[in-house]
Amino acid sequence: MIKNNFGFPFTRLRRNRLKTFSRNLNSENFLNVKNLILPLFVSDDDLSGTEVNSMPDIKRHSISSLLKEANEAFKIGIPSIALFPYINPDKKDEHGSLALSKNNIINKCVKQLKQNIPDLGVICDVALDPYTNHGQDGLIINGQVDNDQTIKILCEQSLILADAGCDVLAPSDMMDGRIKSIRESMEKNNFKNIQLMSYSAKYASNFYGPFREIVGSNKSNSNNLKQTYQLSSSNSDEAIREINYDIDEGADMIIVKPALSYLDIIYRARNETNVPIYGFQVSGEYSMIKSAAEKGWLNEDKAAYESLISIKRAGAYGMFTYFAKKIALMLKNFEI
Ligand code: PBG
Repeated sequence: MIKNNFGFPFTRLRRNRLKTFSRNLNSENFLNVKNLILPLFVSDDDLSGTEVNSMPDIKRHSISSLLKEANEAFKIGIPSIALFPYINPDKKDEHGSLALSKNNIINKCVKQLKQNIPDLGVICDVALDPYTNHGQDGLIINGQVDNDQTIKILCEQSLILADAGCDVLAPSDMMDGRIKSIRESMEKNNFKNIQLMSYSAKYASNFYGPFREIVGSNKSNSNNLKQTYQLSSSNSDEAIREINYDIDEGADMIIVKPALSYLDIIYRARNETNVPIYGFQVSGEYSMIKSAAEKGWLNEDKAAYESLISIKRAGAYGMFTYFAKKIALMLKNFEI
């Protein structure tokens, strides 16, 4: 650091902040539509009850409304979407069998999306929670979510998704060794170019509540078991260890989730690794802003922007955000 021998009044830091042009000129970080990922929900149900109270303005789509929404997003420059299913409770079982059906709602959507909007990147979650009647990401054996048996199913789920045409597999289950196994099975089955975007640092968080409502995976007591595979919010070294582990196993990109309460993890990951890092602004982060804004307690657009730019500033290349369309439009209209 150069020692400033003059100090005040020669240095007045407020000079650069006085005029709009100068504040713009001196911006260190930017949101760019190219780095946004829009999460979208699709329903295999009869589409009554497509909205849930805890996620204002977000709905479970039918295939046709999904295509419309994805197309609109793509047209305003959003390069990729992440798909999540809502499965009718009657179709769930303890093994999450529907995850392995080539004709499940997600596989149908992937095919349709790739046919209609081939250049839109499609990211699919790899995990069993939307499909199991207990809401866990894997198979429960002897009261525990069994790591190795779960991995076998996840590899099958991944192959089916890859076969349907998905571009990026995003394992969100936090089983040990799943990136390696999925990567190996992709190599073996001629899906050499499929990208793995690993939810490497996924915390056992309370901020997933609204997502679990819209996906229908909110089961009483499920949180205790989730703590046996998702990270503890008190830990940071462990997250870096998980991230390095996934890089070694073949991950192309990594996710830190949630984002806002874990900006330090994004910052560390950016400084200590060299893979592309994404923050996931999760449902609870979205709904906190939406509900406060609905009450008139804060400005939705500005709070959304501030929250997302903090994820960038911390070091993420980009982010998953339910505000993606709103932000894309704001960027397009030079409102931010
Ligand atoms: C599930 C999954 C979750 C989210 C993305 N994938 C929730 C969970 O682990 O229960 C959360 C996303 C959000 O809250 O917006 N494998």
